[in-house]
Amino acid sequence: MVKKYIMTPGPTPISEEVLMEHARPLMHHRSPEFSKIFIEVTEKLKKLFKTTNDLFILTSSGTGGMEAGVTNFFSRGEKVLVVSVGNFGERFKKISSRFGLEVISLDYEWGDAANPEDVKKALDNDPDIKGVMVQFSETSTGAINDIKAIADIVKNTPAILIADVISGLGASDLRADEWGLDVVIGGSQKGLSAPTGIAFISVSEKAWKLNEKSDTPRFYFDLAAAKNYSQKTPPQTPWTPGISIIVAMNKALDMVFEEGLENVFKRHRVLALATQKAIEKIGLQLLVKDEAKRGFSVTSIIVPEGIDAKALTKIMRVKYGVTIAGGQGKLTGKIIRIGHLGYVGIFDVIVAISALEITLLELGYKLEIGSGVSEAERIFVENNYLNNG
Ligand SMILES: Cc1ncc(COP(=O)(O)O)c(C=O)c1O
Repeated sequence: MVKKYIMTPGPTPISEEVLMEHARPLMHHRSPEFSKIFIEVTEKLKKLFKTTNDLFILTSSGTGGMEAGVTNFFSRGEKVLVVSVGNFGERFKKISSRFGLEVISLDYEWGDAANPEDVKKALDNDPDIKGVMVQFSETSTGAINDIKAIADIVKNTPAILIADVISGLGASDLRADEWGLDVVIGGSQKGLSAPTGIAFISVSEKAWKLNEKSDTPRFYFDLAAAKNYSQKTPPQTPWTPGISIIVAMNKALDMVFEEGLENVFKRHRVLALATQKAIEKIGLQLLVKDEAKRGFSVTSIIVPEGIDAKALTKIMRVKYGVTIAGGQGKLTGKIIRIGHLGYVGIFDVIVAISALEITLLELGYKLEIGSGVSEAERIFVENNYLNNG
């Protein structure tokens, strides 16, 4: 028997309470029983986004939510500015190009975060830009973008801001309305620790205006259809939704609000800090050099010279049962990523660091055994954070 731990930045571990809800006998999606849950989940998601805008639940992974964001507000040939600090920024570019939009790229080193001033310059230079797309937490690197500052700029232009908060949601404070985010995209399998397969998207009035003129092809992800069905009594989805996932998400959202949002954010902040300090204590380098640009969802670690990243993650997973993530895109083989997102507590971080230390030793890397673990414990004590979630 190998006891298993998922320490990736998505999917994240699911609590027993949420799994029990997921296992409930299937309800029909047009039944009053499901409608009640559907309404509750929509309202709770709005509370989490801090928005009163329309919010729709889509049955797809997060990428479907990104596709909905790209295809519902623009017309073929129109310009969008994609702010890219990693693999998911690149994905926004790919989706936009595939649907015939003209992509203007604002690229940064992977490990860096966007400079809002550059967004301002790009928008000033090109008043035809109709939308700006950006990640909140860029999961491929662990960096976080200051989307509040970016929104401050975009809101004074005719463009809309589309924010992918898929891995930042539930780890870092997000205020969609106060910050002026037009389209906000989240997913079930990250900070909420619900099963995979649901995305959600909120839409501002400014974005709806663009939707009326948009001719980009779409069918399954047509948000006007979603709006139409949401206005029925009771509210519904146009197509059969991931019923059991939504039922499970209801419980996951309850758990977040029972803990209290501020406590949830504090937990993520401390877990991220402990992970990052432990890694440095072991003698490894973090990909995101600037502490202020590190998010709280995932920590990216540069794989030291002479260590095979694939062998390292494989030993951790197969021998010790601890699944962490490798690098994506151009960082494949160069970094490993520890997720500390969702249903995770201090002992999950200890397990991940301990398994990493043991595996590194096994691969011939010189370190003081236990140094990372004791550093993580020191951070928990120093931050007066000794509850396991
Ligand atoms: C920031 C971000 N955007 C988009 C996605 C894509 O989501 P999915 O894999 O659920 O399609 C992910 C998933 O890792 C992500 O972290």
